[in-house]
Amino acid sequence: MSTRSIALANQKGGVGKTTTAVSLAACLAERGKRTLLLDLDPQANATSALGLEKLSGGSVYKALLGGARLADSIRPSGYDNLEIIPSEVDLAVAEVDVARTENYLQRLRLALMPIHDANQYEFLLVDCPPSLGILTMNGLAAVDRVLVPLQCEYFALEGLAVIMRVLKQIKESGANPVLDLEGIVMTMFDGRTNLSQQVVNEVRGHFGEKVFQTVIPRTVRLGEAPSFGKPITAYDTHSQAAVAYRALTAELLAQPWPSPAGPASEKATAAVETPVPTAG
Ligand SMILES: Nc1ncnc2c1ncn2[C@@H]1O[C@H](COP(=O)(O)OP(=O)(O)OP(=O)(O)O)[C@@H](O)[C@H]1O
Ligand SMILES: [Mg+2]
Repeated sequence: MSTRSIALANQKGGVGKTTTAVSLAACLAERGKRTLLLDLDPQANATSALGLEKLSGGSVYKALLGGARLADSIRPSGYDNLEIIPSEVDLAVAEVDVARTENYLQRLRLALMPIHDANQYEFLLVDCPPSLGILTMNGLAAVDRVLVPLQCEYFALEGLAVIMRVLKQIKESGANPVLDLEGIVMTMFDGRTNLSQQVVNEVRGHFGEKVFQTVIPRTVRLGEAPSFGKPITAYDTHSQAAVAYRALTAELLAQPWPSPAGPASEKATAAVETPVPTAG
């Protein structure tokens, strides 16, 4: 068995990356899947959404620079089967420091190797920041799949085109040859407006089966949960949002894995030296 690693990524801010990362992680854990959530965003929203304090020195930062073992940053979440590598504001300077290192796009992949080798987790979810900077690129170079949360709003497809181009670049440059799209999840669906349904139809028209059947509704409960430091499954376990994220989790678990090409963790290590063209 190998760890199924998935990055939650979209360069656009506020589309539901963190909400989806935390909710999926909680749902997977609830289903008995041993899960590690890695908070790769200096905003540390996933960290606080699970009620964890942001402790200086506790993030992935030192491990990215080769100065610490990433495993030492793993902390319990308070929920069975769920552990987290928290973030902190210090991670913001990592962009600059990591950019100066050799193999700067492979730092996270290298840091994660001992964790993959220890084979403790069935799932690794990486919550990326809202940019296509060094941290997100490291996230994308370190996982097998990308799950893109997409808000039901105008111009959704335009933003999607950008991230699809970046995925292609990372794949073709050799930085992560097996990188693939896990799927697109439509978020903040508002059933009272035609717009939401139009956007879903349009995205499905372009991406077909790559769009999850489950659509995440816009609900205040999802906005409230982080301020209580709880995932939606614990904050309001029977809410529409918790039910939706459980359905998304079921879909994810039903997707074929490993892919015929095999998981990225066993490949692409030979490509560690290969730089990726900078994304526009
Ligand atoms: N389905 C939803 N319904 C209502 N509010 C939501 C929903 N999903 C997320 N939110 C809220 O919207 C805001 C943005 O969500 P979230 O933090 O998950 O997005 P993000 O893509 O991670 O943002 P960033 O790009 O800043 O990291 C948060 O306040 C969150 O609680
Ligand atoms: Mg976020």
